[in-house]
Amino acid sequence: MNNIAIIASGSGSNAENIINHFRQGNIARVVLVLSENKEAYVFERARKLDVPSILFNSEEFLNGTVSKTLKRYQVDFIVLAGFLKLFPHSIIEEFPQRIVNIHPALLPKFGGKGMYGNKVHKAVIESGEQESGITIHYVDSKYDEGGIIFQATCPVLKDDTFETLAQRVHELEYKYFPQVIESLL
Ligand code: GAR
Repeated sequence: MNNIAIIASGSGSNAENIINHFRQGNIARVVLVLSENKEAYVFERARKLDVPSILFNSEEFLNGTVSKTLKRYQVDFIVLAGFLKLFPHSIIEEFPQRIVNIHPALLPKFGGKGMYGNKVHKAVIESGEQESGITIHYVDSKYDEGGIIFQATCPVLKDDTFETLAQRVHELEYKYFPQVIESLL
Protein backbone atom coordinates (compact mmCIF):
# COMPACT_ATOMS: atom_id res chain seq x y z
CA MET A 1 0.00 0.00 0.00
CA ASN A 2 1.41 3.38 -1.04
CA ASN A 3 0.94 6.46 1.13
CA ILE A 4 0.14 9.57 -0.88
CA ALA A 5 0.41 13.18 0.27
CA ILE A 6 -1.43 15.83 -1.72
CA ILE A 7 -0.22 19.42 -1.67
CA ALA A 8 -2.72 22.04 -2.84
CA SER A 9 -3.07 25.81 -2.54
CA GLY A 10 -6.72 26.34 -3.40
CA SER A 11 -10.07 24.70 -3.89
CA GLY A 12 -8.82 21.12 -3.89
CA SER A 13 -11.36 19.55 -6.23
CA ASN A 14 -8.60 17.36 -7.71
CA ALA A 15 -7.48 16.45 -4.19
CA GLU A 16 -11.00 15.32 -3.33
CA ASN A 17 -11.25 13.30 -6.54
CA ILE A 18 -7.92 11.56 -5.88
CA ILE A 19 -8.78 10.83 -2.24
CA ASN A 20 -12.05 9.21 -3.33
CA HIS A 21 -10.41 7.29 -6.16
CA PHE A 22 -7.88 5.58 -3.89
CA ARG A 23 -10.46 4.77 -1.20
CA GLN A 24 -11.53 1.96 -3.50
CA GLY A 25 -9.03 -0.86 -3.71
CA ASN A 26 -5.75 -1.29 -1.90
CA ILE A 27 -3.17 0.30 -4.17
CA ALA A 28 -2.80 3.50 -2.16
CA ARG A 29 -4.35 5.85 0.36
CA VAL A 30 -4.13 9.61 0.64
CA VAL A 31 -2.75 9.90 4.17
CA LEU A 32 -2.09 13.63 4.30
CA VAL A 33 -3.13 16.93 2.72
CA LEU A 34 -0.74 19.87 2.98
CA SER A 35 -1.25 23.52 2.07
CA GLU A 36 0.60 26.79 2.55
CA ASN A 37 -2.68 28.75 2.26
CA LYS A 38 -4.74 28.88 5.44
CA GLU A 39 -7.80 30.01 3.44
CA ALA A 40 -7.58 27.05 1.03
CA TYR A 41 -10.88 25.23 0.64
CA VAL A 42 -8.89 21.99 0.38
CA PHE A 43 -8.79 22.01 4.22
CA GLU A 44 -12.59 21.82 4.37
CA ARG A 45 -12.63 18.98 1.84
CA ALA A 46 -9.96 17.05 3.78
CA ARG A 47 -11.91 17.53 7.02
CA LYS A 48 -15.13 16.20 5.46
CA LEU A 49 -13.28 13.22 4.01
CA ASP A 50 -11.50 12.56 7.29
CA VAL A 51 -7.97 12.97 5.90
CA PRO A 52 -5.40 14.69 8.15
CA SER A 53 -4.36 18.13 6.88
CA ILE A 54 -1.53 20.44 7.85
CA LEU A 55 -0.82 24.12 7.13
CA PHE A 56 2.84 24.99 6.56
CA ASN A 57 4.76 28.20 5.87
CA SER A 58 7.65 28.98 3.53
CA GLU A 59 10.26 28.57 6.28
CA GLU A 60 8.95 25.12 7.20
CA PHE A 61 9.00 24.15 3.55
CA LEU A 62 12.70 24.99 3.29
CA ASN A 63 14.05 24.10 6.74
CA GLY A 64 13.15 20.39 6.76
CA THR A 65 9.95 20.62 8.84
CA VAL A 66 7.70 19.63 5.92
CA SER A 67 10.12 16.87 5.03
CA LYS A 68 9.92 15.50 8.62
CA THR A 69 6.12 15.62 8.46
CA LEU A 70 6.16 13.60 5.24
CA LYS A 71 8.37 11.01 6.96
CA ARG A 72 6.11 10.93 10.03
CA TYR A 73 3.17 10.02 7.80
CA GLN A 74 5.35 7.51 5.90
CA VAL A 75 4.57 9.25 2.63
CA ASP A 76 6.09 7.61 -0.43
CA PHE A 77 4.41 9.56 -3.23
CA ILE A 78 3.60 13.29 -3.50
CA VAL A 79 0.91 14.79 -5.71
CA LEU A 80 0.76 18.52 -6.42
CA ALA A 81 -2.81 19.44 -7.29
CA GLY A 82 -3.08 23.19 -7.77
CA PHE A 83 0.05 24.01 -5.77
CA LEU A 84 1.53 27.41 -6.58
CA LYS A 85 4.99 27.48 -4.98
CA LEU A 86 8.32 26.27 -6.24
CA PHE A 87 9.32 22.95 -4.70
CA PRO A 88 12.56 22.85 -2.63
CA HIS A 89 15.42 20.85 -4.06
CA SER A 90 15.96 18.96 -0.78
CA ILE A 91 12.48 17.36 -0.89
CA ILE A 92 12.79 16.59 -4.61
CA GLU A 93 15.99 14.66 -3.85
CA GLU A 94 14.25 12.69 -1.12
CA PHE A 95 11.48 11.61 -3.54
CA PRO A 96 13.15 10.85 -6.87
CA GLN A 97 10.49 10.40 -9.60
CA ARG A 98 7.90 10.33 -6.81
CA ILE A 99 6.52 13.87 -7.06
CA VAL A 100 4.06 14.73 -9.83
CA ASN A 101 2.21 17.90 -10.76
CA ILE A 102 -0.77 18.61 -12.95
CA HIS A 103 -0.84 21.67 -15.18
CA PRO A 104 -4.04 22.87 -16.88
CA ALA A 105 -2.59 23.34 -20.38
CA LEU A 106 -0.35 21.60 -22.88
CA LEU A 107 3.19 22.25 -21.64
CA PRO A 108 5.68 23.54 -22.65
CA LYS A 109 3.16 26.18 -23.73
CA PHE A 110 1.49 28.33 -21.07
CA GLY A 111 3.70 27.24 -18.18
CA GLY A 112 6.15 28.97 -15.87
CA LYS A 113 6.03 31.29 -12.88
CA GLY A 114 2.63 32.88 -12.28
CA MET A 115 0.87 30.57 -14.74
CA TYR A 116 -1.77 28.81 -12.72
CA GLY A 117 -5.49 28.15 -12.74
CA ASN A 118 -7.60 30.69 -14.60
CA LYS A 119 -4.58 32.75 -15.65
CA VAL A 120 -3.57 29.82 -17.84
CA HIS A 121 -7.03 29.52 -19.41
CA LYS A 122 -7.18 33.29 -20.10
CA ALA A 123 -3.77 33.16 -21.81
CA VAL A 124 -4.82 30.16 -23.93
CA ILE A 125 -8.00 31.94 -25.11
CA GLU A 126 -6.22 35.26 -25.74
CA SER A 127 -3.59 33.56 -27.86
CA GLY A 128 -6.24 32.06 -30.16
CA GLU A 129 -5.26 28.42 -29.52
CA GLN A 130 -7.72 25.86 -30.85
CA GLU A 131 -6.65 23.19 -28.42
CA SER A 132 -5.82 23.01 -24.74
CA GLY A 133 -5.67 20.18 -22.22
CA ILE A 134 -3.71 18.84 -19.28
CA THR A 135 -0.11 17.91 -18.61
CA ILE A 136 1.00 15.59 -15.82
CA HIS A 137 4.73 15.83 -15.21
CA TYR A 138 7.46 15.06 -12.72
CA VAL A 139 8.42 17.94 -10.46
CA ASP A 140 11.86 19.47 -10.53
CA SER A 141 13.11 22.71 -9.04
CA LYS A 142 11.85 24.89 -11.91
CA TYR A 143 8.27 25.79 -12.67
CA ASP A 144 6.50 23.29 -14.97
CA GLU A 145 9.71 21.87 -16.48
CA GLY A 146 10.01 18.30 -15.18
CA GLY A 147 9.65 15.36 -17.56
CA ILE A 148 6.21 15.01 -19.10
CA ILE A 149 4.38 11.81 -18.18
CA PHE A 150 1.00 12.30 -19.82
CA GLN A 151 -1.04 14.79 -21.81
CA ALA A 152 -4.68 14.84 -22.90
CA THR A 153 -6.32 17.45 -25.09
CA CYS A 154 -9.66 19.19 -25.47
CA PRO A 155 -10.88 21.79 -27.96
CA VAL A 156 -10.97 25.51 -27.24
CA LEU A 157 -14.33 26.68 -28.59
CA LYS A 158 -14.95 30.03 -30.27
CA ASP A 159 -17.24 31.32 -27.55
CA ASP A 160 -15.24 29.91 -24.60
CA THR A 161 -14.73 32.03 -21.50
CA PHE A 162 -12.00 31.09 -19.06
CA GLU A 163 -14.73 29.51 -16.91
CA THR A 164 -16.06 27.21 -19.66
CA LEU A 165 -12.56 26.21 -20.69
CA ALA A 166 -11.57 25.62 -17.06
CA GLN A 167 -14.56 23.31 -16.67
CA ARG A 168 -13.59 21.29 -19.76
CA VAL A 169 -9.99 21.00 -18.57
CA HIS A 170 -11.10 20.03 -15.06
CA GLU A 171 -13.12 17.16 -16.53
CA LEU A 172 -9.91 15.83 -18.13
CA GLU A 173 -8.10 16.23 -14.82
CA TYR A 174 -10.76 14.29 -12.89
CA LYS A 175 -10.73 11.52 -15.48
CA TYR A 176 -7.00 11.05 -15.96
CA PHE A 177 -5.05 12.29 -12.93
CA PRO A 178 -5.99 9.39 -10.58
CA GLN A 179 -5.41 6.85 -13.38
CA VAL A 180 -1.95 8.24 -14.17
CA ILE A 181 -0.95 8.32 -10.50
CA GLU A 182 -2.14 4.72 -10.16
CA SER A 183 -0.10 3.65 -13.18
CA LEU A 184 3.04 5.19 -11.63
CA LEU A 185 2.63 3.48 -8.26
C1 GAR B 1 -6.11 22.64 -11.55
O1 GAR B 1 -6.76 22.96 -12.76
C2 GAR B 1 -4.63 22.43 -11.78
O2 GAR B 1 -4.33 21.91 -13.04
C3 GAR B 1 -4.11 23.84 -11.65
O3 GAR B 1 -4.83 24.40 -10.59
C4 GAR B 1 -6.14 23.84 -10.60
C5 GAR B 1 -6.51 23.46 -9.19
O4 GAR B 1 -7.87 23.12 -9.10
N1 GAR B 1 -2.68 23.85 -11.40
C6 GAR B 1 -1.88 24.81 -11.86
O5 GAR B 1 -2.29 25.76 -12.48
C7 GAR B 1 -0.40 24.62 -11.52
N2 GAR B 1 0.41 25.51 -12.31
P1 GAR B 1 -8.44 22.36 -7.82
O6 GAR B 1 -7.88 23.11 -6.59
O7 GAR B 1 -9.93 22.50 -7.91
O8 GAR B 1 -7.96 20.95 -7.86
